[in-house]
Amino acid sequence: YLNYHVPRTRREILEILIKGLQRLEYRGYDSAGETDPRLNCSCFYLLFKFISIFFSLTEKLFKQDIDLDVEFDVHLGIAHTRWATHGVPSPMNSHPQRSDKNNEFIVIHNGIITNYKDLKKFLESKGYEFESETDTESIAKLTKYMYDNRENDDLSFATLVERVIQQLEGAFALVFKSVHYPGEAVGTRRGGPLLMGVRSDHKLSSDHIPVLYRSSGKDKKSCNSIPRTDQDTCLFPVDEKAVEYFFASDASAVIEHTNRVIFLEDDDVAAVVEGRLSIHRIKRSAGDYPARAIQTLQMELQQIMKGNFSAFMQKEIFEQPESVVNTMRGRVNFDDNTVILGGLKDHIKEIQRCRRLILIACGTSYHAGVATRQVLEELTELPVMVELASDFLDRNTPVFRDDVCFFISQSGETADSLMALRYCKERSALTVGITNTVGSSISRETDCGVHINAGPEIGVASTKAYTSQFVALIMFALLMCDDRISMQPRRREIIQGLRVLPDLIKEVLSLDDEIQKLAAELYENKSVLIMGRGYHYATCLEGALKIKEITYMHSEGILAGELKHGPLALVDKLMPVIMIIMRDHTYTKCQNALQQVVARQGRPIVICDKDDQETIRNSCRSIKVPQCVDCLQGILSVIPLQLLSFHLAVLRGYDVDCPRNLAKSVTVE
Ligand code: F6R
Repeated sequence: YLNYHVPRTRREILEILIKGLQRLEYRGYDSAGETDPRLNCSCFYLLFKFISIFFSLTEKLFKQDIDLDVEFDVHLGIAHTRWATHGVPSPMNSHPQRSDKNNEFIVIHNGIITNYKDLKKFLESKGYEFESETDTESIAKLTKYMYDNRENDDLSFATLVERVIQQLEGAFALVFKSVHYPGEAVGTRRGGPLLMGVRSDHKLSSDHIPVLYRSSGKDKKSCNSIPRTDQDTCLFPVDEKAVEYFFASDASAVIEHTNRVIFLEDDDVAAVVEGRLSIHRIKRSAGDYPARAIQTLQMELQQIMKGNFSAFMQKEIFEQPESVVNTMRGRVNFDDNTVILGGLKDHIKEIQRCRRLILIACGTSYHAGVATRQVLEELTELPVMVELASDFLDRNTPVFRDDVCFFISQSGETADSLMALRYCKERSALTVGITNTVGSSISRETDCGVHINAGPEIGVASTKAYTSQFVALIMFALLMCDDRISMQPRRREIIQGLRVLPDLIKEVLSLDDEIQKLAAELYENKSVLIMGRGYHYATCLEGALKIKEITYMHSEGILAGELKHGPLALVDKLMPVIMIIMRDHTYTKCQNALQQVVARQGRPIVICDKDDQETIRNSCRSIKVPQCVDCLQGILSVIPLQLLSFHLAVLRGYDVDCPRNLAKSVTVE
C-alpha cells in the first residue's frame, strides 16, 4: 500500500495492511509478516514478523513501542501472508525477506524460485549470509548485489528489478521496497497473479496505461501510438494529485478501498515514483497489447464478508440457490429453451467441428469435469477426456490442433492448470477457460471462455464454485447441440431442470439440522467411505475431498462398481458408509451395492430420492433429497456432503475456512 499526498497515520496504514492480509488469508495463512518502513526517514525500518494467525500479528504490531498516531503524507507499507513452500512456517521464514541487516532491499513474494539454490550459492560466494530457509531471500540479496554492482548512479528502481527478474526462474509475484528509493514501490509478476488498485478523487489521466518497452525501434513506436500524458512515460493522476496504490494478488484485498484495478501481465514491472505509476517491460512480445486497461470491478465488499454465518464456507454453501442463478443469468432462456454463451460465440463453430474435448483441472474443479463428462459425451457426441492437470503434464499427453481443451478453475490461477493451458496452446489446440475470477491468468490466456459468476469464493473448501462450474459445463453441452433436432426433447428436459434447480437446492439446504445431527453421530470416527456410480461418482470424490480437507478424517470416494474389486474389504459394522442412490440408469446396480454392504454388516447411510421407499427401507439412515433431471441430480446430492463436512469440522473443533497445510489458490506447481 502506498499513499501519496494522502495523509495517513501509522495506525491507519497498519490497519489497511492487516485488513488486506485478512482478506487474502484464504490464499495461505501459515505465517504473516509486515513492514512499516518510515519512508520519510529512510534509514530506519521496523520489521515485524510473526508466525501464524492474524490476531497475534495485529496484537503484537499494536503493542510495539511505536507512535501509531504519527502521520505520513507519503508512505509505503508492505505485508504478506504465506503458504510455506521452502522452509517451515516460522518468524524467520515469513515475509518480507531482506537483503541484509540494514534492510536495504525488502521483498515479499508469492510463488517459487526454482533456481534459488544456484542464486544462493553464487551470493554466498560473494559473502552474503542467509538467515532464512526461503527461496525468497535470494531475491532480496540478489537485488542488493545488483544494486551494489551497478555501472551508473542513476539506475532506476524499475530497471534494477527488471534486471533481477531476468535472473529468476520459476513463478513469482513480487513487491519491492528499498531505502535507496524512498517513496517508491516496484511490483512485478511471472506466473503468480498481481494487480494494482488505484484510488484517487482526482481524474486519472487515462483509462489505459501505455507499456514502456526498454528496447527501442519498432516496439517503441507501437507503444508511442497510445496517447501519452507526460513526456515519454505514462503517469497518473495528472498534476501530482493525491493518490493511493494497492498491490495485491487478489481483488478482495483492495475492493473496500477501490474498484479500479489494473491486472499486470507476466514480466510487467510496475513502478510508482512520486505518486506516478508507470509499467515497464524489456521488450514487446507477440500478442502483447502495449497498454494495460484500468478496469472497474463489479465486486462488492459485502460479497467478501461473512454476514451472519460462522464461516465463509457455510455462507457459500447457503449462497448456492443464488450463485447458480447468477451462472445462468442472461444465458439460459427457459421460455424458448435457448442458451447463449457470449464468451464462446466467436469460437463455437470451431468447437463444434473439433475431434475431442479435454477437460483439465485440479481438485474440486476436476470433479466438476468428472460430474459433467457423461452429459457432455451424450450431447456433443464427442470423446471427452477429463484430466488432472499435474498428471496430464507428467504424461506429456498428446494434444492436437483439432482438440478443444477446457481449463476449469475457480481462482483461474492454479499453477498446474495454467502450465497445462500453456502446454495445449503450444500444440495449437483451442483453449476455453471456465473460471470464477475475472482478469485471472487462465481467463486471460485462454482463447475464449465462460465466467461462472458465482461471486467471490473465500472458504478454502470450494462449494459454490463447484455447482456453478457444473452448471456452466451443462450450458456448454446444451449450446453444442442447439441445432440438433434429435436432441431437442433432451435439451428441453435439462433446461427445464435448470429452471427449477434453485428451488430444489433450497429444499436440500433445509436438511441442514438433520445433517448436523448426523455429523454429531459421526464426528469421532476416523474414516468415512462414500460410494456411488454414474452421475454420482463425482459426488463421492467431491464429498470425500471436502471431508478430508476440512475435518482431517480419512475419507474415500468409491465407485460402487469397483466395490467388489477391493474396497468391500473395508466394510464392517464400525465403518461409516455413505451411499448415493438415485433413480437413474444405475439404480439397480446401486441397489446391488447396497445389498453387498448390508451383507457385510455395514450400516449404510444413503442419500436418495425422497420418494424412494425401497432404498429408504434398506438403509439404516437416509438423507432424502428432491428429484431432478438425472444429469443435474449431482448438484443436489453433493450439497448434503458439503454440509456434513462443515458440521464435522466444527464438531471436531477445526477452523473450517483455514484447513491446515492448504491454500485457496495454489499458485505453485
Ligand atoms: C478443494 C479445493 C481445491 C481446488 C483446487 C483447484 O475444496 O478447493 O481442490 O479445487 O486447488 O483450484 P482452482 O479451481 O482455483 O483451480
